[in-house]
This record gives sequence, structure tokens and C-alpha cells, in this order.
Amino acid sequence: MAAIDINSLIRENIRKLTPYRSARDDFQDGLLLDANENSLGSPVRSPLDLHRYPPTLHEGVRKKIAQWRHVDPDNIFLGVGSDEPIDLLMRIFCEPGRDSIIITPPTYGMYEVSAHINNLGVKKVLLTGNFQLDTEEIFRAAEGPDKLLFLCSPNNPTSNSMKRTEMLKLISRFPGIVVVDEAYIDFSRDETLASAVQQYPNLVVLQTFSKSMGLAGIRLGIAIAQPEIIEVMVKVKAPYNINRLTADVAMKAFENRELIKFNIEKIKEEREWVAEQLSMAPGVEKVYPSDANFILFKIRNALTVYKKLAEKGVIVRYRGNEPLCEECLRVTIGMPDENIRFLKTLKEVLS
Ligand SMILES: Cc1ncc(COP(=O)(O)O)c(C=O)c1O
Repeated sequence: MAAIDINSLIRENIRKLTPYRSARDDFQDGLLLDANENSLGSPVRSPLDLHRYPPTLHEGVRKKIAQWRHVDPDNIFLGVGSDEPIDLLMRIFCEPGRDSIIITPPTYGMYEVSAHINNLGVKKVLLTGNFQLDTEEIFRAAEGPDKLLFLCSPNNPTSNSMKRTEMLKLISRFPGIVVVDEAYIDFSRDETLASAVQQYPNLVVLQTFSKSMGLAGIRLGIAIAQPEIIEVMVKVKAPYNINRLTADVAMKAFENRELIKFNIEKIKEEREWVAEQLSMAPGVEKVYPSDANFILFKIRNALTVYKKLAEKGVIVRYRGNEPLCEECLRVTIGMPDENIRFLKTLKEVLS
């Protein structure tokens, strides 16, 4: 692996940035009259001191996540969903109007949207016909101001995991930061790359509480990387990005690990059943194997089917506009009775 100097990839203005500091970074106890909070308290009864700003780092949550993913707390950054770290990484590493990112469509749409918001170029290297990474083509494309390569595994919307060997090849040879988005990793047959950050200084793994943890409503995302990157992310983030309610719920979630595991297994079980049922439905031409909590399937007249399902109150996602996904719909695995209703409505629409 060629040595990579992370510091030299960081935008100069970020390297020179003096981050915001509050008095609370130095003092957490005492007569707290430093932050212009409402000392009389909040109108909502809560043991969480809601009238106080939250801590900037939430060490307790970082520690729990670190134990869960077998890394150190200083490998963990907490963001408002994983959408926040996606944006932050662009702001840290990519010069607006000059640099670009590489994505591998069909993939999660926010990488491109975030790049446009940050006025970055977007190079697209399509997945291969079987939805795997075209490693050599990515290397060919990666000549120039490409600071970030986004990989998504398991990938949305194709639902499959990328081959680990190909991801590691890319991480070890790409001359910039490789972001591996593992939003759906807990539904996958493959293992997380989280602990590989100890070995690869240019690897950032993204995870989220929105999927396997069942907590999309609290907006908590995770970036896992070497401290050199985490420290810059902390420097650039808004001072109090994670609120007290979110941190409190995240801590409580860890008290309920058995239920989380149970629900993951249940979703995987339902996924296999829905896939089997779908493959027998008339008009369904292909059901792609899934490592996530959703299924991508090809169906004749997908757009019409999508609209008819919606008219009957069943909302799925039309993905037919994505490259390699012509005539495809994406359906999230629901509760068992919801899956039955989806399949029944689909059959009605198709008959
Ligand atoms: C691949 C992928 N990454 C990230 C996200 C966003 O996650 P979060 O809710 O943590 O912002 C999604 C949401 O659907 C996703 O599919």
C-alpha cells in the first residue's frame, strides 16, 4: 500500500481553521452562566437538562458504539444521520468548483446531491452488470482532482454487498479518501469493514442508527475512521450537532440489544419469504438477491405498477430511472402483515 498523507488531502482553509470553542469545553460543572441558556429551565418536564446545550462529543455514546464495532472511541464521529458525515467529508476534502468525487451508480442518491450542494464534480463509474464494482475502471477514472470515492455496501438500491477483496484493493490503492457506506451492514451476510480503519488511514466507514437499530427518527449517523480524520470532522461540525434526546435514546437502545438482534433476524427471514413470493408473481422478471432490508425486483411496466400500487395505498420506490435498473421497483421489508398486504395488492395490480 502506498503511504498516504491525509493531512495533504485536507483543504487548506480547513487545515488552518481555528474551531469554535465554548467555555463548556473547559468547564462542565459549577455555576453555569457562560452559554446564554435559559437558567429557569425548559417548559417540558425531563431529567435530561433540556435547557442546557448538549455536550459536543457524547463520550458515552461513542464508547458504546466503539465497543459494538470493535474500534476505539476516538475512531467514532457522531453525525445527524449519515447524511451529515457525507456532507462534512466533502467540505473537508474537496475544494468547491475544482475537486470531484467518484460514485458508482446505481447507488444512494445523496452522494451526488451533496456534491452538487458543495459545487463539486461527480464522476460516475457504473457498477458491472451483476452490480459489482468495476475496480479497474474506477482506477482509470481516478486521475485528477478526485478526493473522495464513495462505495456503498450493501448497496442501495441494488441491495447486494460489494466484494470485500475489490473494496480493499480500492482502499489500498486509491490516492484519496474511500468512504464505505455500510448503512445496511447488519442485514448483510458480510462483515463490517469497521475495524479495517486501524489499517487503512484513508478509509471512512459510515453506519447509521436508521436501519438495523430501528431509530431513523433520532437522526444518528456514525463515521468510523482513524483519529486524524475524526478530529478534523469534529473541528468542522456544528458545535452541538447531536442533541440530548438523541444521545439519550441511543444509550437506551444499547440496553435492548437482544430486541435489535431479534428484529434483524426477523427482517432477514421476512426478506427471504417476500423474495420467494415475488419470484412467483406473474410479471416479475427478476428478484435480485438482497443483503439489506429491502428488495429490488424487475417487473413488466414497472412505472404503471408503481402508480397502481400507490393508488391502492401501497408505496414502494420506482427505481427504473437508475442505470442498470430499468423496470425495477424497490420495496422495503415491512411487518409480516404489511408484506402480505404488499404481495396481495401486487397480485391484484398484475391481474
Ligand atoms: C446507503 C445509505 N446511506 C445512508 C442513508 C442515510 O442514512 P441516515 O438516515 O443515517 O442519514 C441511507 C438512507 O436511506 C442509505 O440508503
